[in-house]
Amino acid sequence: MIADGLDQAVAALKAGQIVAFPTETVYGLAADALDESRVRRIFDIKARPATNPLIVHVADVAMARSLAANWPHEADRIAETFWPGPVTIVIERSDIVPDIVTAGGPTVGVRCPDHDLARALIRGCGSPLVGPSANRSGHVSPTTAQHVEAEFGDNVLVLDGGPCRAGIESTVVSLASRPFRVLRPGVIGAPALSRAIGEPVEEAAETVVTGGAAPSPGLHARHYAPRTRCILVDRIDEAGPGRICAIVRGPAPSGIPDVIVMPENAADYARALYDALRRADDSGADLIAIERPPLEGRQAEETAIWASIADRLSRATTASYG
Ligand code: TXA
Ligand code: MG
Repeated sequence: MIADGLDQAVAALKAGQIVAFPTETVYGLAADALDESRVRRIFDIKARPATNPLIVHVADVAMARSLAANWPHEADRIAETFWPGPVTIVIERSDIVPDIVTAGGPTVGVRCPDHDLARALIRGCGSPLVGPSANRSGHVSPTTAQHVEAEFGDNVLVLDGGPCRAGIESTVVSLASRPFRVLRPGVIGAPALSRAIGEPVEEAAETVVTGGAAPSPGLHARHYAPRTRCILVDRIDEAGPGRICAIVRGPAPSGIPDVIVMPENAADYARALYDALRRADDSGADLIAIERPPLEGRQAEETAIWASIADRLSRATTASYG
């Protein structure tokens, strides 16, 4: 159900309903981060493992500080440079943050979203809000209000802010221990973070974690995935057995009825990616074949975006179909 506007969303959230909200990256599912029982309902509706901590969304740096046991000056540098924006800072948490938010861990991830409606919702509620992506655990993140409706129907009230500008989830960077490290790649890369704080920031450990304990629990190998079998290929030039939906960057290949042509440019590709995966999934195809995008762009900014696209695509195409 789409909300009439901000006031209805604030009232619903205060009454304990689950509200989806727009950010510049993807839509999130909101609940008062300081209210344990409301946060638990978010885990339930997403079928999210209790071991996967939530990001807490704040309206400003002061609110972020209130959640931290220790707010290092590097966090100020990142916030000054990138907030409001697509960077989540992981820091030592304060006692006011319920265990359920951090999956029992000693750290909390905080981010100030670059979307007026998101910050107005936080201010309207007067409390920081958890905001996991508004999809069932492991599925493709939503970048429109309609995606959220397709995911949860009338169980969630959606504050519609139009299509998300960035299209890929925030960079998650840990300042909780040294060396500082990117835990989840996003459009802001490790080199840009490192420049902002004047200290090295390690790249995300591995593109795909194939087993064992993940450094960030959201980094399990299969994630961001359509329900249809999904593969990455160098070129799509012929139809195989069964019905294929092709996601390409170049000219549309002939002989394949379902083709989604993606933008050439990294930022535009990122913005279009999750909608393309959802449309491919809805196409009725037996197989989604994705033409492998480049790994590097001309500038560092583009390379960071292609790297985070590669990360999401490798997770979307990691076979675990049993
Ligand atoms: O762009 C985004 O970050 C979106 C929008 C809605 O803000 N939210 C989002 O939330 O992607 P979610 O829950 O889908 O992904 C959060 C990621 C997970 O990989 C989680 O493991 C990691 O952030 N994370 C959260 N808190 C953490 C912590 N304390 N330590 C390490 N990783 C953490
Ligand atoms: Mg998610």
